[in-house]
Amino acid sequence: MNQIEKTQEQDKRITENLEIIKNRMVVFSGKGGVGKSTVAVNLAYALIKNKLTVGLMDADITGPNVPQMVGDHSQPDAIDEHQLLPKIKEGLRFISIAPMIPENQPVIWRGPLRSGIINQFLADVVWDKLDVLVCDLPPGTGDEVLTAAQKMLPQIAIIVTTPQEVSLMDCRRAVNMAKKLNIQHIGIVENMSGFICPKCGEELDFFGTGGGKKMAEDMAVHFLGQIPMEKETRECGDAGTPIVLKFPESKSSRAFDEIAKNTINLLEK
Ligand SMILES: Nc1ncnc2c1ncn2[C@@H]1O[C@H](COP(=O)(O)OP(=O)(O)O)[C@@H](O)[C@H]1O
Ligand SMILES: [Mg+2]
Repeated sequence: MNQIEKTQEQDKRITENLEIIKNRMVVFSGKGGVGKSTVAVNLAYALIKNKLTVGLMDADITGPNVPQMVGDHSQPDAIDEHQLLPKIKEGLRFISIAPMIPENQPVIWRGPLRSGIINQFLADVVWDKLDVLVCDLPPGTGDEVLTAAQKMLPQIAIIVTTPQEVSLMDCRRAVNMAKKLNIQHIGIVENMSGFICPKCGEELDFFGTGGGKKMAEDMAVHFLGQIPMEKETRECGDAGTPIVLKFPESKSSRAFDEIAKNTINLLEK
């Protein structure tokens, strides 16, 4: 088989694999460190709590954090060359490059190689029937975002921003990218919106609040909700027990539940 035939064959497998997945969602942002992976993981579990079957694809090839956040670093099993079983943790099916590369080593692959991995995840992972496949993307508007958008054909883009202007300005670019890619539903999540003091429980306006909501209004896209900055969210992420599972009654978990419900409403439109 020559390269063109191989690509065609892979595209055919992607189409077949995605056919039985009802909804596809990409989570991205203009900036790094704003909480994309935290939102992708917790929203995935919040959707599961709302009775959906959910898969999570870690498409941040150079900074894959999903295994750490869900607390499973084990290797996925391969049935054969073209069938890779996703890992399953607390009902979430997920795949990441992280367990397949040596720890602490940089992934110095150029765009086409990184995109190649995303194509393989879409073509070869046995996702089976899913209500939603969530894709956690790297920051910015680079190759991986383009590949995910072109191959996954997501119905929904979730764009994560923090409330301060330097994040919002990059977020506007991300919104415009999602618009250019003709993604049907675009929703903003404002993360680190207010800080909950672990000592007194009081909410402080650390990075400000409301910037994401205002931007959503200005750019005529959906606003899905706000998540406060909460110490437990970070601790749970580092420990591999997402906050929505560990502290379901926390303010952040309730915020994730509301975002999940808003997302489901959008997808049912
Ligand atoms: N709402 C939040 N409250 C507290 N810590 C958070 C919150 N959102 C994200 N974090 C922490 O901030 C860091 C960056 O988040 P991460 O999800 O890795 O961002 P990204 O995927 O955009 O690079 C992580 O340590 C994460 O635990
Ligand atoms: Mg990330």
